[in-house]
Amino acid sequence: MRDVNIIQRYNISTKLLHWMSVIGLVIQIPLGFYLVRQEFSDFRITIEEIHVFIGIVIFYITLLRLLFRLFFKSPDDPIEAFSGQMIIAKLNHFLLYLTLLTVTSSGILKKLFNGEKLNFGIIEIKLKTNFDYADLSYDVHIYSNYTLIALISLHILAALLHTFVFKDNVIKRIT
Ligand code: HEM
Ligand code: HEM
Repeated sequence: MRDVNIIQRYNISTKLLHWMSVIGLVIQIPLGFYLVRQEFSDFRITIEEIHVFIGIVIFYITLLRLLFRLFFKSPDDPIEAFSGQMIIAKLNHFLLYLTLLTVTSSGILKKLFNGEKLNFGIIEIKLKTNFDYADLSYDVHIYSNYTLIALISLHILAALLHTFVFKDNVIKRIT
């Protein structure tokens, strides 16, 4: 196994937030699909409340990750990565952040345009009802979810390729 620049790692807070969003998404994506298959009932309301809560937590984690990116230097590119590989990796990371923000904010807007009050922990927000905007936000929620699933699949595939085919230590940068 090639000994990649393993000292080039993300800082501990970036790593923690990365794995917290992974855990959150592993629960949240199946929960979303499970939620929409439920008939209207108290149980569905509870599932939706959990989905909304986890979604807002993921929204905050994503904002925090972007903020940390401004303050903490990302590790240098792996020494053996060719430039095209780094462009693909950076594009994948950029689109992951963008899609995470789109999925979470579209979910939030769907609820708010439905006229529901949302608790953001530090503040409660309620908007004027607009069902057209609520429907539009939900369409965005659905399509950005599929985009997110595709991007995550590519991201994990790349991590597996690095580990088992290229046999480098890229995974150690985030663990
Ligand atoms: C990364 C975070 C999130 C993910 C991955 C996610 C995922 C999903 C998925 C897969 C669905 C089912 C879509 C379908 O096929 O119809 C869904 C539905 C839903 N999501 Fe999210 N969601 C997230 C965040 C949020 C947030 C922050 C909110 C609101 C604050 C929210 C509110 C909803 C609601 C209300 C539904 C069901 C709508 C209905 O049946 O009327 N989601 N979500
Ligand atoms: C499930 C949802 C996941 C999301 C949304 C996600 C998102 C991200 C993002 C945005 C970055 C870039 C960090 C930055 O530079 O700010 C990143 C880095 C990384 N992720 Fe993930 N990730 C996920 C799952 C995974 C999994 C399951 C693995 C391992 C199998 C993984 C391995 C990595 C590695 C190795 C890096 C560092 C890449 C590099 O240094 O160029 N990720 N991830």
